[in-house]
Amino acid sequence: MRTQIAVVGAGPAGLLLAHLLRLEGLDAVVLETRRREHVLGRIRAGVLEPGTVDVLREAGLGARLDRVGLEHRGFSLRFDGAEHRIGLTELTGKSITVYGQQEVVRDLLDAAEPEPWFGVSDVALHDVTTDRPSVTFTDADGTARTLHCEVIAGCDGFHGVSRNAVPVSTCERAFPYSWLGILAKTPPAHHELIYAHHERGFALHSMRSPELTRLYLQVAPDEQLDEWPEDRIWAELALRLGTACEPGPLVEKGITSMRAFVAEPMRHGRLFLAGDAAHIVPPTGAKGLNLAVADVALLSKALTSWLLHGRDSEALSYSDTRLRATWRAERFSTEMTEMLHRSADPFDQRLSLARLRRVASSRAAATALAQDYVGSSEGT
Ligand code: FAD
Ligand code: PHB
Repeated sequence: MRTQIAVVGAGPAGLLLAHLLRLEGLDAVVLETRRREHVLGRIRAGVLEPGTVDVLREAGLGARLDRVGLEHRGFSLRFDGAEHRIGLTELTGKSITVYGQQEVVRDLLDAAEPEPWFGVSDVALHDVTTDRPSVTFTDADGTARTLHCEVIAGCDGFHGVSRNAVPVSTCERAFPYSWLGILAKTPPAHHELIYAHHERGFALHSMRSPELTRLYLQVAPDEQLDEWPEDRIWAELALRLGTACEPGPLVEKGITSMRAFVAEPMRHGRLFLAGDAAHIVPPTGAKGLNLAVADVALLSKALTSWLLHGRDSEALSYSDTRLRATWRAERFSTEMTEMLHRSADPFDQRLSLARLRRVASSRAAATALAQDYVGSSEGT
């Protein structure tokens, strides 16, 4: 088998990259270890920055997003028993869109032509520093195959294999807490997102639609899901958010550990890393999906210039350009995380409150936070 770009991973990064490349007239094949239903069912991010929405619209993927995406012009910070609204539109002129990652993935799969190869195994990358790289894999029927290509895009997330083919230096921080997240069939208790800092821990009220609410609780890093029966979750949310949600049936319930991770560089020869394969941000800043989209928006342009027009400057600077944006997002996401979570350390507890009080009392501090939250034109 032969293609121009072998894309490893059918998450939002891999699917969108393949879509953008095909729009430019390039040929791309996507390989994915999981089944189609698993990829479609994965509940993750929900907040799209304006730059992400622009990329999706320009790629012809805006129809359902524009119909059912929820435009949010601000969000609430709750602490010290009071509410402080961050008016994103008032402070930056921009707004965010609440639209589930699984909806973005559904739109991408509806548009995918051809479909990704789902259910593959034994994926291995070869000769990435030569001009004849390839990917070997076993397809869903058990047949061993080789995909020859000009470029490989490693979009296989944090647990993928692509990063192992790059001599990366990695930086990592594990935070001393996790998020217990639920998606519930109940109307949101408030029309905007609520980020709550409480002495019992952080809580986040988000949503997916007027009927679906997404909620998170800060829990211990080794927390067991079975210690959290539904009654306990709803009671804890009401305490921390200061607003009671109407309990509804759970569509999903899970615990996610909280980490920051960056692999440098993001290119090795003809292998380019994008999305969670290269970097993880703690989810508090809502940057992960947006970073992944910005990575592949640049990568598709760089590969088009290189493979179709023989200009390689954007491909050569891809890693440096995206690492600058990655570290901006790491800085913001880490600050949001430390400001909003409850630490066991008394000094950190006072620091969190000092940061929150500054954002609530200084228009300059609120504007800086709002600008980081909505992202820059260079892709967060
Ligand atoms: P992934 O979505 O991880 O996709 C990688 C794909 O590669 C997967 O389908 C995987 O099965 C496949 N794969 C793995 N190994 C292989 C292999 N060897 N061969 C082939 N395929 C392979 N981000 C935001 O921007 N806003 C938010 O509000 C937000 N909230 C979040 C909340 C939670 C609870 C979590 C966990 C994350 C959140 N994120 C958020 C982060 C966001 O979900 C990720 O950054 C995003 O999924 C990255 O997309 P990706 O395509 O790079 O990686
Ligand atoms: C979500 O809706 O899943 C969500 C929203 C905001 C965040 C993180 C996650 O900061």
